[in-house]
Parts: sequence; C-alpha cells; structure tokens
Amino acid sequence: MQKPRDLWSSRLGFVLAAAGSAIGLGNLWKFPYITWHNNGGAFVLVYLLCIAGVGLPIMIAEILVGRRTQRSAVGALKESVGSAWGFVGGWGVVTGFVILSFYTVVAGWTLLYFIKCLGWSFNGYPIDYSGGDAFGVMTGNGPLQILLAGLFMACTMTVIYRGVGQGIERISRILMPTLMVILALLLVSALTMEGAGEALAFIFAPTFSELPWNGVLEALGHSFFTLSLGMGAMITYGSYLSRKNSVVRSSMMVVVLDTVIAIVATVIMFSVIFSKPGMAEQISRSTAGMLFITLPDLFYTVVPLGKVLGPLFYLLVGFAALTSTISLLEVVVAYFIDERAMSRAKATTLCGLGTFFITLLCGLSLGAFGPLSSFEIFAGKRGLFDTMDHLAANWLLPIGGFLITLAVGWFMTRKTKEEELMDGTQPGWFRYGVWSFFIRFVSPAAVALIILAVIFLGADFT
Ligand code: TRP
Repeated sequence: MQKPRDLWSSRLGFVLAAAGSAIGLGNLWKFPYITWHNNGGAFVLVYLLCIAGVGLPIMIAEILVGRRTQRSAVGALKESVGSAWGFVGGWGVVTGFVILSFYTVVAGWTLLYFIKCLGWSFNGYPIDYSGGDAFGVMTGNGPLQILLAGLFMACTMTVIYRGVGQGIERISRILMPTLMVILALLLVSALTMEGAGEALAFIFAPTFSELPWNGVLEALGHSFFTLSLGMGAMITYGSYLSRKNSVVRSSMMVVVLDTVIAIVATVIMFSVIFSKPGMAEQISRSTAGMLFITLPDLFYTVVPLGKVLGPLFYLLVGFAALTSTISLLEVVVAYFIDERAMSRAKATTLCGLGTFFITLLCGLSLGAFGPLSSFEIFAGKRGLFDTMDHLAANWLLPIGGFLITLAVGWFMTRKTKEEELMDGTQPGWFRYGVWSFFIRFVSPAAVALIILAVIFLGADFT
C-alpha cells in the first residue's frame, strides 16, 4: 500500500515554502544589480509587467499540474498532459541540478560574510578592506569554497531528509517571517538615509529613453529565475498542495511576495549606495561585486546601526538562499522518490552528494583550480561556474518554461484545466479565459523571444 502523500498543512504553509523557493539570491543579488545596469525606473516597470503577464500565468500553470496529479514534475506532466511530456520534467530535474551547482557556492559566501560581519561588529572594521581584493582572494581559496558550499549543502540536505511537512514547511515557517522582519528593519533604516530620495527616484521614476533594448529581455529572463519557474519546482511544490487550497490564490500570493521583496531589497541597497558620494560610479561591474564588495564596506562606513544591520543582512541573504536550495534539491529528490521508488533518506543522500560533487567543482572554478577556471564553452564565459550559470539562465530555464507553457496551454484539455482552476476556491476577479489566453499566446511568445534573442542576437541573461 502506498503511504499517503506528505502535504503542506495549510495554504499558508505552502505559500511560505513556495515564496521561500522564489525569494532567493535572484531577489537580493541579481535583481538589484540588473536594475542598476539597466538604469532603474523603466526597467522596473517592464519587469513588473513581465511578472504579471508571463510569470503569474506560468506559476498558475505549474501549480495546477502539481496539485492535480500529486506527483513531482516528471510523473505530473506524464499523467496530466501525456506520456511524451515526461521528458520536460526530466529537463527540469537536470536544470535543478545545474542551478544548484553554482547557487550553493554563492550561498556559501553568505555564511562567510555573516561571520566576517560579526567579527567586524565586535572588533572594528579594517580600514583597507574594500581597497584590497579580499573578495577575489576568498573566491580563489579552494578549501574555503569547498567548506562553505559543503556546510550549506549539509543544511539543505538535513531539511530535505526530514520531508515536506517536518522539514521544508517547518523551516519555511521560521525563516520566512524572520527574513521579512530583518528586511523591514533594514528598510526603515535605509529610508532614513540621505540617499533614500535618490534611490526611490531611480527605482520608481521611469525614463524609457534610458532603457537598453535588451533590458526588456533581461526583465523577462529574470522573471523566470526569480519565480523558480521553468523547471518544475512549482509543479513539485504544488504536488504537496491539498485540493482544498486554491491554485490561483496561492500563486498570486507567492508572486506578490517575491516581487515586493525584490523591490524592497533594491530600495535598501540603493539608499545605502547613494548615501555615500561617488559610490554609485564605483559599483563593481560584476553581480557579485555589489553584494560582496560594495555593501560590506557601506554597512560599516555609512549605515546607521550598521554594526547590527550588517550581520543581519547577510543572515537574511543566507536564509533566502537556503529556502531556495531546499526547493532546488527537492525537485531532484522528489523525482527519485516518486518515479524511482526510492526512500527519501536514500534519495536525499544520493542526490545531495551527487550535486555536491559538481558544486565543489564550481567552487574550485573561480580561480582555485586553473583548468576548471579557464575553459570556455560559451563565448566570454570562463570556467565551470560561469558556464553553469549561463547554461541555466539562457538555455535550460527558457526552454523548460517554453515547453511547460506549450504542454499546459495547448496539450492539456480545457476540461482538466477548468476543473482545477474554477473549483470554487478561485478569487472573484479570476477569469479562466484571460489566463488561458496568456498561457496559450502571451507566455509562449514571450519565452520564445528570449530563446530567439539568445540564438540570434547573442543576448545574455546571466
Ligand atoms: N528563485 C530563486 C531565486 O530567486 C532561484 C531559482 C531558480 C530557484 N529556479 C529555482 C529556486 C527553482 C528553487 C527552485 O533566487
């Protein structure tokens, strides 16, 4: 006899876990940075449109498929769309594996920066810190990279091992509210700073002439990554959702939470950056630079109460990353449990160690080990870390997302979809026809645009 599926205890449980998956380094690390180099306002507006017009419909589609079948990505697509579609789920499992490999490395850095900040708070901030290349030294230190990523992976595996209710939901119920409280504290502090006005204007006053053409595509590409779409993560989380809980309402809440947090994080970071004269011009050219080079310095030189807020900030980033690595690993683990009849313990150990092996190689590919750091498969992307990041953002997620929109939009029967969405739990404003139009036409066209831009225009979403 089959054991009953371990479900979320309530809609709130699901929303916190799914928001935990969505809110991650994408919100705190990538979004502020791409907002910066796409000149703010207009980009943010386009991003919001992409989230509403492309992200939300696909979120609904993924959760719908999961809740209906109560199976993880591969089985869910086979059962609800047709056996030929199982491979799209398999594509997602591979994508999860690829994202985990570099994501865990960055997640590991947050541990180190949390500890570093604690040290600075107690012993004083070193005058020459931001001047030297402390960041480069850190990423080039192989054993340290392995240790940090290993610790992070161990935390992730511990949660996954304990299962959906006792593991994932329980930790999300603790970490997500904590994250929101820390963010609120940071926001209050940031808004009192001198740069706040300039930051708000930068983010909320759109000047369309300043939006680079590929900013639109970048906003689209990022809306996938940030909502954890395109790889079956939301199918998998949706498969633990009870039929009593609304697909549409849950999707809406996850999307709103993710978006609000990305914007709040951006307001905080720019308020801090604009408060130090001349700082804006110096923002490092890499994504990592803003979070790990510019900000640590500012916490200790300009932020009021920075001694307290600095460590808290890195704790927050770490928490956000952890609830995301958990969901990435869960996609892989759930496949082995549901489709290969493996026990959760065995699947967790196997998948965790397997992904850690690649993670370890990614960690060594930032300078520690020459051959891993210097090879080039995609033009301009040097080493394994950059290659994996590039592969996921430019190829795996858009193609996966495209196939999911096709599967749900065109190959699933209308009856099935209506049964799931119009089941009496949907909010009053929801119109099936509108969603259907978006998932059949708007979303696939938008995603196809990303893929075409990558192939023909050499666009880059990493
Ligand atoms: N959404 C996560 C973030 O913003 C990253 C991510 C992408 C992800 N795909 C995922 C997380 C799938 C979990 C599952 O950081």
